[in-house]
Amino acid sequence: MTDPAPSPAWTALAAHRDSLAGTRIESLFDADPGRAASLTFPFAGLSIDFSKQRVNAGTLERLVALARERGVTAAVERLFAGAVVNPTEGRPALHTAVRGEEHVVVDGADILPDIQRCRERMRTFAAAVRDGQWKGATGEPIRAVLALGIGGSSLGPRLVLQALADIADGPAVRFAENLDPVSLDEALAGLDPATTLVVVASKTFTTQETMTNAAAAKRWIVSALGEGAVARHFVAATAKADEAARFGLPECNVFPFGEWIGGRYSLWSSVGLPIAIAIGMPAFERLLAGAHAADLEFRSAPPERNVPVLAALVGLWNRNFLGMGVLAVLPYADRLANLSAYLQQLEMESNGKSVRLDGSPVGVVTCPAIFGQPGTPGQHAFHQWLHQGTDPAACDFILIARPMGSRADAHEALLAHALAQSEALMTGRSTGDPHRDCPGDRPSTTIVLPRLDPASLGALLALYEHKAYAQAVLWGINPFDQFGVELGKAIAGRILPAVRGQPEGGLHPATRHLVGVLHKLAQSD
Ligand code: F6P
Repeated sequence: MTDPAPSPAWTALAAHRDSLAGTRIESLFDADPGRAASLTFPFAGLSIDFSKQRVNAGTLERLVALARERGVTAAVERLFAGAVVNPTEGRPALHTAVRGEEHVVVDGADILPDIQRCRERMRTFAAAVRDGQWKGATGEPIRAVLALGIGGSSLGPRLVLQALADIADGPAVRFAENLDPVSLDEALAGLDPATTLVVVASKTFTTQETMTNAAAAKRWIVSALGEGAVARHFVAATAKADEAARFGLPECNVFPFGEWIGGRYSLWSSVGLPIAIAIGMPAFERLLAGAHAADLEFRSAPPERNVPVLAALVGLWNRNFLGMGVLAVLPYADRLANLSAYLQQLEMESNGKSVRLDGSPVGVVTCPAIFGQPGTPGQHAFHQWLHQGTDPAACDFILIARPMGSRADAHEALLAHALAQSEALMTGRSTGDPHRDCPGDRPSTTIVLPRLDPASLGALLALYEHKAYAQAVLWGINPFDQFGVELGKAIAGRILPAVRGQPEGGLHPATRHLVGVLHKLAQSD
């Protein structure tokens, strides 16, 4: 795909790409020995190294010109100020507001008081659950939290709780996300209803997966403890307090957030309640503070020093000018094993779009596919593809400087492997044996966190959020809707009667055939 109406900045980048043809990333270090330092940027306590990207000063200059041409700085201000940046749903996107202290007006009302009230209620409730003052129906304290939700109502808390497991000293949190009954069965296994708190997180409070699991969990509680136990064992995080009331929850069990928080940007809101219960509200607030520090830099830095904007530009360069359709997210930390799943939703649900804000075709390729898993296990799986496959991919390496776990020597070896991978992807090797040759010249960014603590994690996640927004602005698309996921949900509703063997109102022949196969195989020995 080419830009339907190439702009001056886009055209300049295309010409620049052609002039760089044949220039290897490695040779850029020969041309500029200070490159590693000059292309490493501090960001909210993190260090972001773009030096192994296929860019030189001229590339960055032209990319920054594109950011200026597309009005990125003004668009960033619109995001923070509460402008309607989600025009297809007529909403602002104010995930930054719930981690700050700024007065922002939405529909004529200041939203800060509600944000502060909810945060205060989270603080009181999380403390009461943690210190045993919040009792279950039998008078026993809560020992486990069952977190129900899917997509943005689950991925964030799941990622954060895995990342910060070392400081989780509250009740253990289990997650059930899938409609697959095994998901809830496994989460409930070994739990005692009398000491379990269920947190139902759903912006809409109508999502089938979450509501099916919530109804089953309610039956589990009620059959053990009686109907009256619901208010002691269920709370909700939602933008639809009325739906939570219909589920049977009193107002004081509902932790509301605004329609202006997108699902995949919601972990900072009351959706983060399981985090606050597990690690305590002060640590949850350090997570918010880390993200807020990132917000301040994103809002104030000029494009040439604005790290999320630079990350967006480098990603666009790889995607639109160097033809990379894949971004591999490679955290060298087991505690970040959920990062790629989280970023799949954040980036692919946000920017997996084909039309511009005005509905016209975007005309260029947009969000790459994202995948990944922690190193070093990934090295023994798909890194072969990264080194010698036919489709060059861009990589994000994420390293933690301070050792985690009990053995510093193993952490040193882990870091050595991470650095070796990014170097090998860049340099490649020439042996004279085509089977052993590695082409190299594969671009990567290296993000270093000083330690895996709440503040650094908050900054890391905000960096990716802001990168996704800046990329959407560059492509001219809306990152805050997700209409593509609705079609399948509607069709599933039509198919369900047939799967259940009930009369149906007309199926696609392909689906009818597969329903028949399922029924036949379900009865086979
Ligand atoms: O997959 C679509 C989606 O709407 C996501 O954007 C969202 O995070 C998820 O479903 C869950 O939605 P809810 O929080 O309303 O249950």
